[in-house]
Amino acid sequence: MSLIPSLNGKAEVLIGGASRGIGLALCAALLARDDVAKVWGVSRNATGNGDLALLARHHRERLVLMDCDARDEQALAALAAGLAQTCAHLHLVISTLGILHQEGAKAEKSLAQLDLAGLQASFATNAFAPILLLKHLLPLLRNAPATFAALSARVGSIGDNRLGGWYSYRASKAALNQLLHTASIELRRLNPAATVLALHPGTTDTQLSRPFQGNVPAGKLFDPGFAAQCVIEQVGRLGPAESGGFWAWDGRAIEW
Ligand SMILES: NC(=O)c1ccc[n+]([C@@H]2O[C@H](COP(=O)([O-])OP(=O)(O)OC[C@H]3O[C@@H](n4cnc5c(N)ncnc54)[C@H](OP(=O)(O)O)[C@@H]3O)[C@@H](O)[C@H]2O)c1
Repeated sequence: MSLIPSLNGKAEVLIGGASRGIGLALCAALLARDDVAKVWGVSRNATGNGDLALLARHHRERLVLMDCDARDEQALAALAAGLAQTCAHLHLVISTLGILHQEGAKAEKSLAQLDLAGLQASFATNAFAPILLLKHLLPLLRNAPATFAALSARVGSIGDNRLGGWYSYRASKAALNQLLHTASIELRRLNPAATVLALHPGTTDTQLSRPFQGNVPAGKLFDPGFAAQCVIEQVGRLGPAESGGFWAWDGRAIEW
């Protein structure tokens, strides 16, 4: 299957959130493909990350590491300007940017645990950073088939919310979904060959999920390599006709 629908030739790909978890596994899986020319791996300290350095040693100039705090709009503008010097078009951008219990964000169980700082931290990384990444990369997504996929989460679905809890994570992912859906409408006008997707990768064994894995049924916790392959399968399957949708790792649509 082609990396994204209608891809002609080899792809230039950017992974936002490349340093660990699903993003790191995506970098490895993409670099193993013949139809990927180059991967731009972005995180706050990508150039100082040991796992990315190992990948770069193996794949040399096919992996370019760039440092950027995606909550900082000036840093995003600088990232886009730096990229534009050597890259004419990005065929695929995957944002894995997300926090649940780190950096001031909290997996709240009750209203009493909710506070402004936690809400702001969750929204800054989970909703604002991915859409501002799309804003700044837009000039590189305009003239040929291009997919922008952001990792959302099933718990961001309002229709699927029967358990409650995780106020700020749920709400920030719901906000991300709305932002992506809105962007898909604008991109349809700017580039009919563009696709914008919100993807749920499945519960995956990473730093983000580690404190909450006790409730995951046996056999239902994915390893990052499997989650990455599922994400790649979905970006290969879903094209402009599906743009603006919210999809799970297994290809099933998720209700808003
Ligand atoms: N794991 C799961 O079970 C699960 C389930 C559903 C959805 N998801 C979603 O899938 C995505 C990936 O999750 P994961 O489990 O792989 O998480 P993870 O292991 O914690 O990785 C998160 C990545 O995001 C980067 N990042 C965070 N804040 C950043 C910032 N301000 N600027 C630049 N990069 C930043 C991190 O890099 P640095 O910290 O090095 O900058 C890291 O590379 C998240 O959006 C998560 O919500 C995960």
